[in-house]
Amino acid sequence: MSERVRIFDTTLRDGEQAPGFSLKVEEKLQLAHTLDELGVDILEAGFPIASPADAEAVRRVASDVRRPVVAGLARCRKGDIERAAWAIEPAAHPRIHTFIATSDLHLEKKLQISRQQCLDATGENVTLARQYADDVEFSAEDALRSNVDFLCQVIDVAIKAGATTINLPDTVGYSTPDEIGEFFRAVIQRVNAPANVIYSAHCHDDLGLAVANTLTAVEAGVRQIECTINGIGERAGNAALEEIVMAMRVRPDRLPFTTGIDTRHIYKASQMLTRLTGQGVQVNKAIVGRNAFAHEAGIHQDGILKDRRTYEIMKAEDVGVPWDPLVLGKHSGRAAVQQKCRELGVQLIGDELVELYRALMAIADDRKVITDADVAEAIRLIRGESVSVRA
Ligand code: KIV
Ligand code: ZN
Repeated sequence: MSERVRIFDTTLRDGEQAPGFSLKVEEKLQLAHTLDELGVDILEAGFPIASPADAEAVRRVASDVRRPVVAGLARCRKGDIERAAWAIEPAAHPRIHTFIATSDLHLEKKLQISRQQCLDATGENVTLARQYADDVEFSAEDALRSNVDFLCQVIDVAIKAGATTINLPDTVGYSTPDEIGEFFRAVIQRVNAPANVIYSAHCHDDLGLAVANTLTAVEAGVRQIECTINGIGERAGNAALEEIVMAMRVRPDRLPFTTGIDTRHIYKASQMLTRLTGQGVQVNKAIVGRNAFAHEAGIHQDGILKDRRTYEIMKAEDVGVPWDPLVLGKHSGRAAVQQKCRELGVQLIGDELVELYRALMAIADDRKVITDADVAEAIRLIRGESVSVRA
């Protein structure tokens, strides 16, 4: 039996706080509805203390989006928690997500507090958060670079104070997959957590390992994963929701876990985020990049036309991408040119395919991609007539 993993989406918080990704209240609301449709379990709508607009956005999402848990972030500080409590108050399923750094580096240099002060702040603020919400998540910032004995003490305090989700972030994307796997196994084994406590992973992508680290954390016992659409987030970003979810879907033999995500809405969510932020994704980005389901090489096009499975491990339609796989360019073969003509409603006769192929390859030497208009024009020249193509 596959085990269910909860998807905690932080596109509107960790994602939105990255340079160039800020969103207005209405835009956050629009995205929140799309994330709801996508099926995320927990929607982190913002960091209410950060600005009045962020507090307002969290409150609007909490009022309007009723199915998922709506979370607001707060440092382990009274003012933060009270502001987050105000923002999530209208939610059908409210959560306060409170955090404090636990690595010695952060304690000494950033917060300038002792380990004991960190333990005290954790206990006091989780207790305070529980006065406003039954659902409290505690995060130990920079957990992966923290002393494990101390970290286990902090987790113990957070659980005793009432936290039911324990998130251990790889805040600076420093971990490797085997390390994070060992880390979660050790912590889960050492902390005597009651059965209602869920461990969560939150991995940053500074070394390009966020998705691999997240999946290894799940194998080690984590049952909530924090991720973002298109992998946006601080610096190199967070683990990409679409990559994690599709890895589980495509490889249930290796990753026997399910999520509540309706994958057919992935592309829509990705496109909406791109449009609202004005920040595109790289063309070769897994799952949602423009080339993720496109084929230009002749050998690949020939394979795809015979059986899609030759070069595709998942269907574009399953993530909501319209399937239009053949890109004509200088690496294309005749099979693709023939297919393109069929799609355009043009019947080639005699040597026309050979001539057309030659003509298109001559164009391709100068251009990156051959368009439908180029194909129509080439046929017209070959036939010495005008050719009508289907739109
Ligand atoms: O990366 C991080 O540590 C965070 C926490 C605030 C959860 O985003
Ligand atoms: Zn983060």
